[in-house]
Amino acid sequence: MTRKIIIDCDPGQDDAVALFLAMSSPDELEILGITTVAGNVPLALTQRNARMMCDIAGHQDMAVFAGCEKPMVRDAITAENIHGNTGIDGVDVFEPQTPLQEQHAVDFLIETLMAAADASITLVPTGPLTNIGTAMQKEPAIVGRVKEIVIMGGAMREGGNRSPSAEFNILVDPHAARIVYSCGRPIVAMGLDVTHQVLSTRDRVDRIRKLDNPVADATAGMLSFFHRYDTKKYGSEGAPLHDPCTIAWLLEPSLFETRECNLSVETESELTMGHTAVDFWHVTDRPHNVNWTYAVDADGFYALLNSRLSRF
Ligand code: BDR
Ligand code: CA
Repeated sequence: MTRKIIIDCDPGQDDAVALFLAMSSPDELEILGITTVAGNVPLALTQRNARMMCDIAGHQDMAVFAGCEKPMVRDAITAENIHGNTGIDGVDVFEPQTPLQEQHAVDFLIETLMAAADASITLVPTGPLTNIGTAMQKEPAIVGRVKEIVIMGGAMREGGNRSPSAEFNILVDPHAARIVYSCGRPIVAMGLDVTHQVLSTRDRVDRIRKLDNPVADATAGMLSFFHRYDTKKYGSEGAPLHDPCTIAWLLEPSLFETRECNLSVETESELTMGHTAVDFWHVTDRPHNVNWTYAVDADGFYALLNSRLSRF
């Protein structure tokens, strides 16, 4: 059965690859809309970048919405140092044909979920959780309509990537993250513990480039840029391909190993703001609210990505 999904993103090279992976898989995934949020770069760029990816994938019919320009409580943080000034450095920027919908992303989320059956729509956030947190606060009745949420956000063993203890998406909007992680619906969390295992090594990027189609070319170009910062920072062979882990989970969950546990988000301490306290060893009696992902078959992940990107 096709799963109905809404992708909430801040492209971002890795968000862009997540969009490609989702658009390559119509038998499994029906994309109801792509909502964008301020994150890696400001909203004006994330919504434009999402529309560019739809153009490149030949999906100018996709409904793309712009959402929140800043986090619920805190000031915005961006990541041009990693993603470049465009957010998607590595591809040439152009003005996309895919239109921007007039409706605000938060209103689209509310309207779509309120019109849906209970537990019927999967949300896939790959950026700060501002749009979804705001929608849940504005219309709490949407929560019951959500089937599950597959989030790229958080870290346990890996520590933080934007502060010593916080992962970028959660650090940017910890208040929204707290609302979403405590909403009560099933959540699969892809944190840095697992995304740091799917490295876009030179060999893997070369194999993608050899697929020789517009989507594969764009992917290889973006990953070659994305590569630079993280290989220097971590001394690794390639950059972690964070956001596509969410879509890979929906397509092939057997690639991942997970554990049900509690995840709580720090929203008070400036020192550890946005930290995700993952009770992996069940040392508290806090309720299990996430399926925390901790291992992945990286070769299997790249095999899936290659086979799907070859479809374009
Ligand atoms: C997350 O932050 C962004 O830089 C990436 O797009 C990803 O969603 C990783 O921490
Ligand atoms: Ca992202």
